[in-house]
Amino acid sequence: MIELIDIAYVRSGAKDIEKCVGFARDIVGMKYQGSDQGVHYLRADRRHHCLAFVEGESGVLSSGLVLRDEQALLDAAAQLESIGLPVHRGTVEEARSRRVTDFISFDDPWGNKFDLVIGQVQDPSFLELTRPSSGITEFGHICVDAADIVAAAKFWNDNFNVKVSDWVQGAAALMRFNKVHHTLAVFKGDEPGLCHINFQVDTIDALFRNWNFIKEHNVEIEQGPGRHPQSTAIFLYFKGPEGLTYEYSYGVRLIEDEDAWVPRTFDPTMFGAIDMWGGSSQKPSTQRQILTTDNDQDADAVRTLSAESQPASA
Ligand SMILES: [Fe+2]
Repeated sequence: MIELIDIAYVRSGAKDIEKCVGFARDIVGMKYQGSDQGVHYLRADRRHHCLAFVEGESGVLSSGLVLRDEQALLDAAAQLESIGLPVHRGTVEEARSRRVTDFISFDDPWGNKFDLVIGQVQDPSFLELTRPSSGITEFGHICVDAADIVAAAKFWNDNFNVKVSDWVQGAAALMRFNKVHHTLAVFKGDEPGLCHINFQVDTIDALFRNWNFIKEHNVEIEQGPGRHPQSTAIFLYFKGPEGLTYEYSYGVRLIEDEDAWVPRTFDPTMFGAIDMWGGSSQKPSTQRQILTTDNDQDADAVRTLSAESQPASA
């Protein structure tokens, strides 16, 4: 069993790097940590970064999940290989680019690429969000698409310490590996990709302040403000450049009594099943996964740019 400790980051390819970085910094409100060899880092909490834009083709490159130590990494590689999934061992250069000590990567059976990392670098300095009024407190969760959510949930349940907290019938498996109702989710989608990246905010006021702010800046709202009955979180989904959907949310449920919790099923055709307030139930759009076969964009970016640029502080 592979034991996840935390989520680490999302790594996304950006054609228009200034636009993507500018949106994450000035609209979402994250702190820009600088760039290094074509990779631009954004911070939202204690992590060095939880979002990295890699200059190149648009699309999600990978999502990072944290394991405990080197032995856990080795065991995870063996486990994934035992079920027939090829595992890539990260190079020193690739690990440096991710600001982790070591990592492996694999594609889930639906084509979503994940990095399993150890030793994610923490930033001990005081976090000065670009937009403090955003109220961001934490990188909250990652949601990917899969064609078969029941099989995807089984994959995570069989191989990882991941349990389904609630089902949205035919639409989503909301999953946990700690008390938080969901830190990882799989939404029904025909192609692999990142459905959204979530940030928790500190108050309901921040959520609604952000709503007004992004409306004033003509950002496309995909869903919300609304409230999910599963997690009880108040949410707002909005679309950034190059198809990356962001979510702010406040008030996620904690599952304190692990043994007593039984996953519930919600029918998305019923009123309130997605949004208790009756708002739109249309799924947020997905940023497509850049497939391994497309080329190794990370490696290419590093090779191309390392010859031209001096590493900046990041
Ligand atoms: Fe979400």
